[in-house]
Amino acid sequence: MTDKIVLDYCKKMEELGIKNKVLEHPPLVEAAQVVNHLGYTLDDSVATLIMKADDDFIAVLRRDVTKISFKKIKKLLGIESLRIATPEEFSKVTGLEIGTARFYVPNLKTYIDKEVFGKKYILGGTGSLNYTFQCLSEDLKKLPGVEVVDVTVPIEQEKSHSTSVKRVFSGIRATGRLHLGNYLGAVKGFLELEKSGEYETVYCVVDVHSITTPYDKNALAKNKREIIIDYLAAGLDPKKSIIIYQSEVPEHIELAFYFSSVVTIARMQHLPTYKDKVKQHPDANTMALLNYPVLMASDILIYKAGLVPVGIDQEPHLEVAREIARKMNQLYGTDFPEPVRFATKGEYIPSLTGEGKMSKTVVNSFINLTDSLEKIRKKIRSVPTATAAGGEMSPGLKTLFIFAQLFIPSEVEGFKKSYQDKSLQFVELKDRIAEAIYKELKPFQERRAKISADQKYVDEVIRDGAERAHRIARETVKEVKHKMGLL
Ligand code: AMP
Ligand code: TRP
Repeated sequence: MTDKIVLDYCKKMEELGIKNKVLEHPPLVEAAQVVNHLGYTLDDSVATLIMKADDDFIAVLRRDVTKISFKKIKKLLGIESLRIATPEEFSKVTGLEIGTARFYVPNLKTYIDKEVFGKKYILGGTGSLNYTFQCLSEDLKKLPGVEVVDVTVPIEQEKSHSTSVKRVFSGIRATGRLHLGNYLGAVKGFLELEKSGEYETVYCVVDVHSITTPYDKNALAKNKREIIIDYLAAGLDPKKSIIIYQSEVPEHIELAFYFSSVVTIARMQHLPTYKDKVKQHPDANTMALLNYPVLMASDILIYKAGLVPVGIDQEPHLEVAREIARKMNQLYGTDFPEPVRFATKGEYIPSLTGEGKMSKTVVNSFINLTDSLEKIRKKIRSVPTATAAGGEMSPGLKTLFIFAQLFIPSEVEGFKKSYQDKSLQFVELKDRIAEAIYKELKPFQERRAKISADQKYVDEVIRDGAERAHRIARETVKEVKHKMGLL
């Protein structure tokens, strides 16, 4: 049953010669949500704005994909002051609830922006949050006392400069020092993209993500700084890349909350990464943990980054970020890119135990970037191998060959041959790999020692990064707040 106020309105419109249809939906206030529910876009909907022009109220009809130009209206009407009516004024003038404004507002001078006729059929309010009105745009010219005017600018022109810049974003949690898996799976990608000179690169220590599982606060404060030093020692150039702590750009957290309004609890609960963490910490199944992927989406999208250098394990989180971007764009007309992963050759570094991936949280699974040659040799020697050469390779031996492929690619064939003809000495292969890994890490360790001795420089990098990141993040949050009706 259609509400009486809706039926009366439709009848009045028919009498004015405006044929129409009403579409039913759950009670929704935001035009973006209504059109989405009905299978249309904001391109199809027209809003009626009640405005106070000097001492009089006026109605302005504009397409939702356009923005009112106050300057144009003032000039057109020759008035001094112009503002949107307050909610109280709106109710008084229209007799309707906010969010239900109709095309026809009796006794009010009505201006129709020319863009309204850019679409043959248009959608608008009916006086009820449950129904939407549809008619031919041309028919609106039949409304009593209307005037067609040019008072809007397309929203496209308002787009910020930031969307035209190609950006890269990535982050690493501050749960411990970086290991070889982080270096090969992530940091090498950071470097490659920075060096390409094609992108604005933002690299972050995601310290807020570190508090989503139980942690030691003293260790966190220390670790997060160590990772910044690792970034610099790996060769990231703070003149080229923006290097930041996540917690110093609190807009990440603010945007994550706005994003959480378009993500269901069920979607987050089904993520394998979430389930794993709950299994690891059954007593710490917190809201922060459930929100982890939403905060990660915010990290990336606040910079409108389209490319994310991370290991393959992060793919499910990137899928969530893409879903959020799509949903936000659909509902609120934002222009978030759908971020994709930038893969490195070392996108999956296995654990030294021969089982699973190299991980900070699994003892004896990793090589630290600061490990000495002796330590690396000892760790590699401990990788379990099959007792005899030949036949099917054991998981540990497969791991060794993955390292060989990454660090001594030209020697792989030779080692494989000697494995097949059973002449391979495992310790020979292991020591060769250990040496090659150390050779790659040595310049890193030397640079690290220098940077650690200059803490003032590290402070400067952090301060400068926060400032540059802030400028971009603030702009995105402002845009989102505006488009979500918060500003
Ligand atoms: P995490 O230490 O889990 O915070 O990971 C930081 C970054 O390193 C992410 O981009 C991960 O995908 C990457 N990463 C972690 N472990 C590995 C691994 N074993 N192989 C490849 N990439 C990894
Ligand atoms: N989840 C990532 C990891 O565990 C860390 C992370 C948080 C991240 N926010 C990000 C990575 C944004 C890339 C982009 O490694």
